[in-house]
Amino acid sequence: MRIAIFGTGYVGLVTGTCFAEMGNDVVCIDVDASKIERLKNGEIPIYEPGLTELVIENAAHQRLQFTTKAAEGLEGAEAAFICVGTPMSDDGQADLRYVESAARDIGRQLSRYCVVIDKSTVPVGTADKVRGWIKDELRKRGVSAEFDVASNPEFLKEGSAIEDFMRPDRVVIGVDSPRAEATLRDLYSPFIRNGLRIFTMDIKSAEMTKYAANAFLATKISFINEIANICEKVGADVRQVRLGAGSDARIGFQFLFPGVGYGGSCFPKDVRALSHTAAVHGYKSELLNAVDAVNYAQKAVMFKKLAAWCELTGRSLKGLTVAIWGLAFKPNTDDVREAPALQLVRELVEAGAKVRVNDPKAMHEAHKSLGDLPGVTWCDEPMETTAGADVLCLMTEWRPYRRPDFAKLAEQLSAKVVFDGRNQYDDVRCRQYGLTVYPIGVQVTG
Ligand SMILES: NC(=O)c1ccc[n+]([C@@H]2O[C@H](COP(=O)([O-])OP(=O)(O)OC[C@H]3O[C@@H](n4cnc5c(N)ncnc54)[C@H](O)[C@@H]3O)[C@@H](O)[C@H]2O)c1
Repeated sequence: MRIAIFGTGYVGLVTGTCFAEMGNDVVCIDVDASKIERLKNGEIPIYEPGLTELVIENAAHQRLQFTTKAAEGLEGAEAAFICVGTPMSDDGQADLRYVESAARDIGRQLSRYCVVIDKSTVPVGTADKVRGWIKDELRKRGVSAEFDVASNPEFLKEGSAIEDFMRPDRVVIGVDSPRAEATLRDLYSPFIRNGLRIFTMDIKSAEMTKYAANAFLATKISFINEIANICEKVGADVRQVRLGAGSDARIGFQFLFPGVGYGGSCFPKDVRALSHTAAVHGYKSELLNAVDAVNYAQKAVMFKKLAAWCELTGRSLKGLTVAIWGLAFKPNTDDVREAPALQLVRELVEAGAKVRVNDPKAMHEAHKSLGDLPGVTWCDEPMETTAGADVLCLMTEWRPYRRPDFAKLAEQLSAKVVFDGRNQYDDVRCRQYGLTVYPIGVQVTG
């Protein structure tokens, strides 16, 4: 099938590449000319395990092409996927300007039947708007081309996006025409060969499904963070509590890790966008607002712990040297959008601390986002950050940080203190090396 993909970010590039891998003829369109130029040269603008090889392979066989010109990408397309960003507006709602721009591009080119598929995460009712924008452009041209609009939310996770796309838990298809359904089933059948996990539903339910899934996962994270904060007050150990509660199959361990709050390009904006949609329809979502508020507070938890420790030990944040491991919002990605680590860096710099940072893949993106902040040293190796630092904060649980050389750490950190924002370290073991570890959910005692 000939497919056009709008947007070559984490979702668009993975979607286009995986469809090409199954033998389809894919053209990816992006308004970012430098991105397209890099992709044409075989350079992948994002870090996603396994993606580079697949892009290069499929591009070499001409199944995957890149362009900035919508007309070129849409020529002969039977399906057009909209995978552009839907960032958060100031009032919390999803900003649909990129979706509108892609939809209008489609309307300006459409000449034969095509299924237009919203894969971006968009509020309920967006498919109707997309239909309206396309019709508007067709009307301006005085053309009446046939098309359908469908919703096909994406559930891939950054860091395992290829695996998730190639072997999805489920594929959700929101359609209002048998023709659109047939096209989408046809496209996805190589990925789900028994067809059992393709759920076809009405368009609004499909749009809502994505928000429901993300809101639930965000709720689990805020829930365990709330429990961690209560544990800290009452002297319980959230690491034990997590095991005891999570072993109940109805609860489960996934997303039940206390930490420094959720970040990334999805949960923060999707929780707020769903709450906004509810409010527009006259429903105040107390739960979603609380999930967001708990997360907002949790992202400041590391800074508060450091400040509390300074107070208890008679030190000052001003002049303190803090090593930070992990800048990406989670491991296996270079994505730093809404990353708790960036907030911590800004707060520490503001308080006059010196910061030494490392991340296996996100240094470039973090540097772009933070700029040249005074007092921040960018270190290539984890042990370079801790050399000359007073304390260490673990912010992202990348594998190389899991089993560091504790003896060397104890030697390097003048205060011999580790603030473990991901509850990775065994404090008994660390104590043997003379290190004090403060996990999330355990009070700082100084
Ligand atoms: N990143 C994820 O893990 C993930 C997972 C599931 C769903 N989503 C959703 O998918 C959507 C895309 O997310 P992303 O992380 O891939 O975004 P992204 O910011 O990485 O990429 C978006 C791309 O779209 C391009 N773009 C903007 N306007 C365009 C236009 N008119 N025509 C062509 N290209 C255009 C941008 O230049 C950019 O390259 C969002 O709605 C997001 O919520 C993301």
